[in-house]
Amino acid sequence: MQKHYYIKTYGCQMNVHESEKLAGMLKSLNYEETNDMANADVIVFNTCCIRDAAEQKVLGNIGATKKLKKLNPNLIIAVCGCMAQEKGRAELFKEKYPYVSIVFGTHNLHKFKEYLIEFQNKHQKIYNIWENEKEINEDVEMYRTSNNNAWVNIMYGCNNFCTYCIVPYVRGRERSRLLDDIVSEVKQLINDGYKYITLLGQNVNSYGNDFKDGTNFAKLLTTLAHLDGDFRIKFMTSHPKDLTEEVINVIANEKKLSKVIHLPVQSGSNKILKLMNRNYTVEHYKNLIKLIKSKVPNYFISTDIIVGFPHETEEDFMQTYKLVEDVNYGGVFAFMYSPRTGTVAEKMDEQVPQEIKNERVNKLLALSKKIIKEQNQQLVGKRMEALIEEKTEDGYLATLDCGKNVIITTTEKINLPTFKDVKITGINKNKLIATLCN
Ligand code: SAH
Ligand code: SF4
Ligand code: F3S
Repeated sequence: MQKHYYIKTYGCQMNVHESEKLAGMLKSLNYEETNDMANADVIVFNTCCIRDAAEQKVLGNIGATKKLKKLNPNLIIAVCGCMAQEKGRAELFKEKYPYVSIVFGTHNLHKFKEYLIEFQNKHQKIYNIWENEKEINEDVEMYRTSNNNAWVNIMYGCNNFCTYCIVPYVRGRERSRLLDDIVSEVKQLINDGYKYITLLGQNVNSYGNDFKDGTNFAKLLTTLAHLDGDFRIKFMTSHPKDLTEEVINVIANEKKLSKVIHLPVQSGSNKILKLMNRNYTVEHYKNLIKLIKSKVPNYFISTDIIVGFPHETEEDFMQTYKLVEDVNYGGVFAFMYSPRTGTVAEKMDEQVPQEIKNERVNKLLALSKKIIKEQNQQLVGKRMEALIEEKTEDGYLATLDCGKNVIITTTEKINLPTFKDVKITGINKNKLIATLCN
């Protein structure tokens, strides 16, 4: 009888892509995907621990599988990802979630297939967390699920130790994939017809630093942008301390590079940035923004912000608010600071009360909403490139470089998917409307 798997993914794009690797391993063992958890023979939780809310969601969802396991004692429940890698978590699963059969971490994700076979043979639970990162494993099966976009890891881990962040503890130190390995994967993806290739790393601008041979992110981007084919390269995430003018120039000058730059600022107060160990000042950040705006046509800048970091006063927060107004971001991801066990900030005094965090996050989100609305209005009349993706009854659905959807009314026949210039003609119920340009 056909066996089925169900993967639940939490957290960032890195995890979304890693779930494609988990799916690849399951497919190679002849499992098929199901959208119904109750119908699965294997359920995998690929977890995130960036904030407490993420962890609570994971624990709640795993808890809910207890009754499925009762109904089907052969059900295999596996937990992996950042939360599994976190200190002490494997023990927690062992003690409190005995119906979980396999627990493994971020450094041994590629071993999942082996663990699954071992469990099926021996029926002994597996708790295997590798303490440290090992060599990058190039030999992974993947089952890509993301339509016209393909994710590509260019580096793993993080060396930055921002004082609030758990990532360096659960993802290990920075290590870059070889340029040739990335190029051959991207070439294959272009051949397979993917239109967006999104390069992934916690800090893509330090790509290649570990090779110490002059390889850097600008070189990687230039190499990829010169490949043949009809595609665009995206990437995330950029750290403001490492984003160079060289990279901004490449983005500005290369047609095949997306003009979307996600540049997390975290705070608009120098005092807070210092406490966060971000290693740049607001002035440095503003200069980068100025450079991007002056050089990159049709730029789209988005950011991450943490409110309520320890010691953040109303004045500090207002500096952040003002910065968001000044930069006029196309997208703001605002989070309430969540203390993470083992990080430096967890032990800082003057933690900010929850009500104040709520208030500040809501203020930022309202501001961002207002800015986005204004920006959408300003798009009307503009000519831009869009990826025409889907046929509708009276036209097509398309996506702009920045990810916004556009509705196009036309009777013209188009081979999908393809990039075309469109002119934004209006907005209807928050949706952008456009016509095709000749
Ligand atoms: N490597 C990326 C993304 C890291 S996680 C970067 O450096 O930007 C994504 C976002 O989660 C961060 O940018 C930060 O805004 C937020 N974040 C990380 N740790 C957090 C914490 N402890 N509490 C609240 N938000 C946090
Ligand atoms: Fe976390 Fe900072 Fe590394 Fe980003 S750069 S993953 S925020 S430690
Ligand atoms: Fe979460 Fe891990 Fe990503 S902690 S945000 S899944 S790197």
